[in-house]
Amino acid sequence: MTVSETVAESELSVETDLLAGLESYVTTAGPREERFDVETPFSGAVIGQLPACDPDDVEEAFVRADHAQTAWADRSVEERAAVFKRYHDLVIEHCEELLDLIQAESGKARRHAYEEVLDVAITARHYAYRAADYLESESREAAVPGLTETTVHHHPVGVVGIISPWNYPLSLAVSDAIPALLAGNSVVLKPAEQTSYTALKAVELLREAGLPRDAFQVVTGFGEPLGEPLVADADYVCFTGSGATGRIVAGQAGQHLTDCSLELGGKNPGIVCADADVDRAVEGLIRGCFTNAGQLCISLERLYVHEDVYDRFLERFVDAVESMRLGTDYSHDVDMGSLVSEQQLEKVTDHVEEAKAEGATVLTGGTARPDLGPYFYEPTVLTDVDESMALCTEETFGPVVGVYEWRDTDDVVEQANDSDYGLNASIWTDDVDRGKEMATRIETGTVNINESYAAAWVALDAPMGGVKDSGIGRRHGEHGLMKYTEPQTVAVQKRLAMDAPPGMPYWLYAKVMNGALKLQRRIPGMR
Ligand code: NAI
Ligand code: MG
Repeated sequence: MTVSETVAESELSVETDLLAGLESYVTTAGPREERFDVETPFSGAVIGQLPACDPDDVEEAFVRADHAQTAWADRSVEERAAVFKRYHDLVIEHCEELLDLIQAESGKARRHAYEEVLDVAITARHYAYRAADYLESESREAAVPGLTETTVHHHPVGVVGIISPWNYPLSLAVSDAIPALLAGNSVVLKPAEQTSYTALKAVELLREAGLPRDAFQVVTGFGEPLGEPLVADADYVCFTGSGATGRIVAGQAGQHLTDCSLELGGKNPGIVCADADVDRAVEGLIRGCFTNAGQLCISLERLYVHEDVYDRFLERFVDAVESMRLGTDYSHDVDMGSLVSEQQLEKVTDHVEEAKAEGATVLTGGTARPDLGPYFYEPTVLTDVDESMALCTEETFGPVVGVYEWRDTDDVVEQANDSDYGLNASIWTDDVDRGKEMATRIETGTVNINESYAAAWVALDAPMGGVKDSGIGRRHGEHGLMKYTEPQTVAVQKRLAMDAPPGMPYWLYAKVMNGALKLQRRIPGMR
């Protein structure tokens, strides 16, 4: 353990400096005695303590957020958008500071932390320039053209509750909040207890960009007891995390008839076709499997490789894995960082140990690396994995991938779809048309061709989310903003009443109307 102790001592001052003042962005109803430790996964050392909020604090956060929402919604969309254009610039300006903080709290490599800065900046820009279009009131057709004038308005739902996980502490704390705020809502966020400082930093920058103080509330602490009152008070709930917790949240939202979106992870397949550019596939799939040490909802945990390229691919893939640099560095030179916690290390270890005991072959990795840090685990490649093993069917959420050989296209599509999950998939082929055709047969919310996950994620104009147990609803695109609105239809009756004219018997009215309906169906412009 000497290595990690040395690292802890030399880096602790960097970490504690970053945290100064951030606690002031936590909402509490009164002095909060109870606090919880935040540690850095790089060494296990405690780097700070935050208030363990209770249901009264959630209540207070909603009162403040609700109060702030009206004035915020009364601003024009352009004024609200200006805040997020500034936010875009501020996030870039504070990039290094954000990367330090994300790394300190999550233990990830700097290059993986940078994906979060990119994501937040792109999301802020995307929605800032499109929100006005999305939110504009529209006129709609009436049953009988000319008789009524119909307009649809898009009102904010009110206060949006967001519960976010630790794996992308910056992205997932603000990227779903940006469209919610642009739509005129206020937000109450409960970030993951492991990574709340990053969320607080994101809020500090939002304030600096001009977001009204109370429009974004943060309560820090644990899902139990904060989840239930948060869901009860919210007008919409956006949750990202485990399937087990997602089911609890959806159940509570159901009780309150509150709409929600859930993004719950996957067991995502990657398919390498016979005609794939093997070197390009190896490079892309290293990222696809090991970004953020595999703690990414859209990362790939099953690789299906065509028999014609299987040996060649596997040799190069294992070589590439073995040359990956692991470490606790605050520099861009590290290829993979730590897992976030003891809990994650245990889950990853259990999956690999069980698979080994059941006959799987470890080609590389397969062990923890306490010499680097308490939760480090080597990037791991296995073969001879089958359905009897959790590693084949359950989300590992770690740097572990099972590789399978395939021959027939129908078979590989069936295998890829043989999962309770349906979040992301990746196809590698030189024949893009064939890849696109295959993609439509895969039961996932996103499919990336000749990329692992990033192409579909950064296609911000397109919806992103999961089918089956991977969740409900979508983020990104028009849907990612409009889900935080209530459409309201206003119809003006212009001339005739919606009834028989005075003095006309109803039997005659019905006859006339039936004639009119028949005519209407025949005339193209009237349908
Ligand atoms: P989790 O789902 O328990 O935590 C996510 C968020 O939910 C955190 O903010 C947590 O405090 C909150 N939470 C916990 N219990 C709650 C409750 N009863 N009501 C409301 N909110 C609650 O996930 P956890 O335990 O951190 O990780 C377990 C597994 O979940 C991971 O190994 C991974 O497989 C999966 N996961 C998937 C993520 C994704 O991006 N889809 C993100 C994080 C975890
Ligand atoms: Mg949990």
